[in-house]
Amino acid sequence: MRISVVGCGYLGAVHAAAMAELGHEVVGVDVDERKVDGLSRRRPPFYEPGFDELLSRSLESGRLRFSTDVGEAAGAQVHFVCVGTPQRRGEYAADMRYVDAAAESLLEILEPGQLVVGKSTVPVGTAARLGEMVTGKVPGALLAWNPEFLREGFAVQDTLHPDRLVYGLPAGADGETARALLDEVYAPIVERGTPQVVTDYATAEMVKTAANSFLATKISFINAMAELCEATGADVKLLADAIGYDDRIGRKFLNAGLGFGGGCLPKDIRAFMARAGELGADQALTFLKEVDNINMRRRIRMVELAREVLDGSLLGKRVAVLGAAFKPDSDDIRDSPALNVAAQLQLQGAVVCVTDPAALDNARREWPHLDFCPTAEEAAERADAVLVLTEWKQYRELDPVTFGRVVRQKRVLDGRNALDREAWTAAGWTYRALGRRAG
Ligand code: UGA
Repeated sequence: MRISVVGCGYLGAVHAAAMAELGHEVVGVDVDERKVDGLSRRRPPFYEPGFDELLSRSLESGRLRFSTDVGEAAGAQVHFVCVGTPQRRGEYAADMRYVDAAAESLLEILEPGQLVVGKSTVPVGTAARLGEMVTGKVPGALLAWNPEFLREGFAVQDTLHPDRLVYGLPAGADGETARALLDEVYAPIVERGTPQVVTDYATAEMVKTAANSFLATKISFINAMAELCEATGADVKLLADAIGYDDRIGRKFLNAGLGFGGGCLPKDIRAFMARAGELGADQALTFLKEVDNINMRRRIRMVELAREVLDGSLLGKRVAVLGAAFKPDSDDIRDSPALNVAAQLQLQGAVVCVTDPAALDNARREWPHLDFCPTAEEAAERADAVLVLTEWKQYRELDPVTFGRVVRQKRVLDGRNALDREAWTAAGWTYRALGRRAG
């Protein structure tokens, strides 16, 4: 099939390359010339395991190209909208201007029989509005909503092997036509028996925000338990293990620590609350405000814990921060808890050096007042405390004995409950973690 993908950020670039991998002829369109140029030259604008190879394969096959001209999307049977919906400045609601602009630009080239497919995370009601726009301007064209659940760090795998396909469709015969087109796009995935959930627009839109809200709630739940563990001397890691064996609860996303960040969970729960308010159903989601509060408190607690470990004062203390990305295997620093903590420590007088295996360029650009070092060893040179704030494999596997030789004081704060406490304490380190007793 001929496919266009409008918006070549994280979601769109991976989606475009994955669709080419499935055998389609794909054009990725983005207004950002640098992004288009980089992708065309196999230089992705972000770090994502496995994406370089997928991009190279797809470009080499001749089935994938990128352009800044939406006119290149003309003639495609299916047009995916993959632009971002960031949080609006000073508000909780999502900024819809990129989605609206993408939809409007597609209207210029859309033809009857073609399908526009929204993948962006949007406030419920958006698809109905855009659907009217599409059919009003181009009778015979259709719109579907097909949310995406990819995780950064696993984007390639999640796109090519999703755990479910959700199709939000218009009613009646149009819905059947749209479904057939989507099934054709995803044929190898459908044939594999991947579960499909076919819904109306509103349900499909809500599936995405509900899923992210649930994940955020799960993380904040265990972090609330961590607060209680700190008050009682209990151990949140063992608690999570023990309740996680109950498969109604499950151990995944019960890792207590610094909490969630990134470009999705924080802004999605806020946009969901804002939309519920507009719909007169704000009470239904007031609990998400608490989820957000618990999450933000972890960052403050981390700074307090650092102060405690550093004998009550941060002034002039050398602190190594390992990790800048919001999570491992990503160079994404949007709403990164690690950088947030690093900045607070510096503001309160500590001499902070941040390191990260992939996110240093992004971090430098967005946080120019922070100091950065290329390696963990350099960041930790003569440090009074080491804070592990993003659980990269490199940091989980540090040898506490050799690493202990570079620091001034062997004090480690495990912000992600990711280190082997016994190994670190055996090597003479004072080990502290959120929700666990001092080791
Ligand atoms: C999230 C969802 O997991 C995806 O399903 C969704 O498609 C995506 O948002 C999106 O909306 O596009 P992502 O933002 O890549 O994916 O990151 P997650 O893996 O969900 O992690 C989010 C944050 O939670 C990270 O900061 C991570 O460190 C933190 N986290 C995760 C915890 O603190 N504890 C956990 O147990 C798990």
